[in-house]
Amino acid sequence: MSSSALPVIGMCSDHAGYELKNIIKEMLVEKGYKVVDFGTNSEESCDYPDYAHPCAKAVESGECALGIAMCGTGNGISMTLNKHQGIRAALCWAPELAKLAKEHNNANILVLPARFIETELALKTVETFLNTPFEGGRHERRIAKIPV
Ligand code: RB5
Repeated sequence: MSSSALPVIGMCSDHAGYELKNIIKEMLVEKGYKVVDFGTNSEESCDYPDYAHPCAKAVESGECALGIAMCGTGNGISMTLNKHQGIRAALCWAPELAKLAKEHNNANILVLPARFIETELALKTVETFLNTPFEGGRHERRIAKIPV
């Protein structure tokens, strides 16, 4: 894929995910992705919704095609992202989960539990998420029923 065809990726984390966010960002930029980093920008303690909401809005609006987010467990940031009607954020800790989150749920934000995943596994999970297409079909009907 030429880099112009690669999707724009929005990223966000709190302090617990800051280091992993940087590692993933570096890998994505190296591969030619454009990354929009919504923060946080240090390991200073902070509140994940402050970064999750802007990232979710960017994915909802189409400014970013997909998102990658993380906090310590992945739970707080998932809960926040999924408050947005257009967001399907999936907490994944292995490539197999990311594959199904894309194939079946057409997840548009991958969430990683930064304090509970090894870096190499996180990178593989990201690659799987980005390279797996949505299956459509019956899953299209199901995801259409998610918004409230
Ligand atoms: C921060 O200590 C931690 O609570 C946060 O990263 C996350 O795990 C919350 O869901």
